[in-house]
Amino acid sequence: MRTAKVLVIGGGGREHALAWKLAASPQVATVLVAPGNAGTAREARCENRPVAADDLDALLALARDEDVALTVVGPEQPLAAGIVDRFHSAGLAAFGPTRAAAAIEASKAFCKDFLVRHRIPTGGYAVFDAVAAALAYLDTRPLPIVVKADGLAAGKGVVVATTPIQAQQAVRQMLGGSGGRVVIEDFLAGEEASFIVLANGTDYLCLPGSQDHKRVGDGDTGPNTGGMGAISPAAVITDATEARVRTEIIEPTLAGLAAEGRSFTGFLYAGLMIDAESQPRVLEFNARLGDPETQPLMMRLESDLYAALAAASHGRLREASLRWRPQAALGVVMAAAGYPGTPRLGDPIQGLPQTEDDALKVFHAGTRLDGERVLTSGGRVLCVTALGADLARAREVAYAAVGRIDFSGAVYRRDIGARALAKQACIAA
Ligand code: GLY
Repeated sequence: MRTAKVLVIGGGGREHALAWKLAASPQVATVLVAPGNAGTAREARCENRPVAADDLDALLALARDEDVALTVVGPEQPLAAGIVDRFHSAGLAAFGPTRAAAAIEASKAFCKDFLVRHRIPTGGYAVFDAVAAALAYLDTRPLPIVVKADGLAAGKGVVVATTPIQAQQAVRQMLGGSGGRVVIEDFLAGEEASFIVLANGTDYLCLPGSQDHKRVGDGDTGPNTGGMGAISPAAVITDATEARVRTEIIEPTLAGLAAEGRSFTGFLYAGLMIDAESQPRVLEFNARLGDPETQPLMMRLESDLYAALAAASHGRLREASLRWRPQAALGVVMAAAGYPGTPRLGDPIQGLPQTEDDALKVFHAGTRLDGERVLTSGGRVLCVTALGADLARAREVAYAAVGRIDFSGAVYRRDIGARALAKQACIAA
């Protein structure tokens, strides 16, 4: 029976995909989304509430006033600010890590130190809060080298420097004048993949592997973004590699967090680099689902998401399971003119599909309703996501829909999934 009211916090494509999947649960009557977007406003059984994702007091009041059975936190900022601790103290169920557990994402320095403490494979690194010491360290390291801001930066606080000048500029910019901190990491070669688990202490369920496309331009060129498209599955995560990721990375991480008094309940996202010998190493952890990885993952999820998240948030994850469609899914992000710099806002979006089905879903991110019109209202605007018998078919369906959607100055990559398909063709030859 549909009785539960759920609150999803956030307004991006990840949150639209979560709200859509939660609303499909036979147990869920209504999904409130705060603040949501034009996509969640139009979604069956979903309603937006005009509360910002970082307004913890107002979110708590909303959950209480609306008698919400479960709150699901999408983005990292409220997690890092301790929203789950606040809800738990008020006796409200919230799915996501506590502030202490979310430090695995909120501080890159904490994460790297944690990985080393628990002998979890990762690259070499050093942490600095003074420019001179950081520059002296750079002189001792080979290129390329990775410079990361310590705190949250929406996927944009990472510079992979290929020249000394780029590395020095990144250090100066990130340390600025105002007491910042940087992590300088050795560059790891290989193929990147995202491996996400639904965790409750040391119990966990795996999501299928996925891959983001972080650079703005075709051929992985240009600056980093929040993510320009994603695919699932990720061929690089073979059964053997997944077994290694679980035993060498996920299990020691969950056990280590629990042992340090930071027991993790929520989605734990391991950003991995997998080298030519199939050795996985951690590039970073996120304390939440990936965006845009969530969009193809939710297209593949067959099970009742609400049942699994409710079980985890009540300490009963062992009673839950997740079933996945064997097909491939692929999402193409359409961004506003100017992204990843300052995006142009307020452009009308035309050509959105009138009907959607199991094979095609347009998840909204930076959109808002203006009467009947849908306008751009953020950097990443849509994630056009398709499910197909294989990756090639999913790609065909997604790009056919992208071709029908139009807004002024739309920015999108033409090669989402192309590298994975080229690799498949190589292996088949
Ligand atoms: N897709 C990268 C992220 O969510 O951080």
